[in-house]
Amino acid sequence: MKFFDHPGHASRWCDAMRSKGRSVGYVPTMGALHDGHLSLVARSVAENDITCVSIFVNPLQFNNATDLANYPRTMEEDCAMLEGAGCDMVYTGSLETFFPGTTDVADIPPVVPLPAIAGLEADFRPGHLEGVQAIVERLFDTVGECRAYFGEKDFQQTLLVRQIAALHGGVEVVVCPTVREPSGLAMSSRNRRLDDASRNLAGALSQALRHAAALWDAGERDSERLERAMAEQLARPGITVEYAAVRDPENWTAGTPAGPLRHARALVAATVGGVRLIDNLALG
Ligand code: PAF
Repeated sequence: MKFFDHPGHASRWCDAMRSKGRSVGYVPTMGALHDGHLSLVARSVAENDITCVSIFVNPLQFNNATDLANYPRTMEEDCAMLEGAGCDMVYTGSLETFFPGTTDVADIPPVVPLPAIAGLEADFRPGHLEGVQAIVERLFDTVGECRAYFGEKDFQQTLLVRQIAALHGGVEVVVCPTVREPSGLAMSSRNRRLDDASRNLAGALSQALRHAAALWDAGERDSERLERAMAEQLARPGITVEYAAVRDPENWTAGTPAGPLRHARALVAATVGGVRLIDNLALG
């Protein structure tokens, strides 16, 4: 497995692969890899001639300095897992190599936010999705023509990266199902910061989503009633809810859509044991 610590070198390697007629699969990550990431790598390995992975903890997408400082960094372990998973190339970089001429986050010009940056994550983590947009534009430029694999757990992010890819040409976004622990808890690099009690409690997020799905299956189509039902499920000591929301995934809106829905996605964000967790589920 090749390793590059500069995106320019990774870019040249991807170009060389394509010039030999090889298709490129790409999994962008911030490291601290788990089975969810490995499922993306496995899908890429199955669908492309070569697979590359980036590992970069992007400071632009952290709106909280403590969160950035606490984000797990496990490069050696990650590389060993990737090698075992059949990855062909891993690359990383620094803020300066992704954004030449800048040494400070404050020097980086702001992006023009795409329409997916509205409501929910945008309300509760101001600047987070703009930071994702800024880096994903650079990551897509680095790898070039490829299939890029993203996990559905970050649902609003998947809408955003599809919009970036549509403007970018050459990148096909593939969204893969959320991988869950036996309790239903969606896998996340942040889960390793949960203690046992919080990990048990965190199962309530997926339970609330499944409750909304059961109500939907029983005929409920009113988004406000579905939202209230999820909020009731999450109202437990130890859980601080940021949102328990229903959105039309085909027609994303900042607020709760009015009227009976034909397509719906339930989305939750909550802090459990000091760890911010998100999850979502298609209704119907
Ligand atoms: O989902 C993530 O890990 C990150 O948001 C991404 C897409 C790698 C951008 O930093």
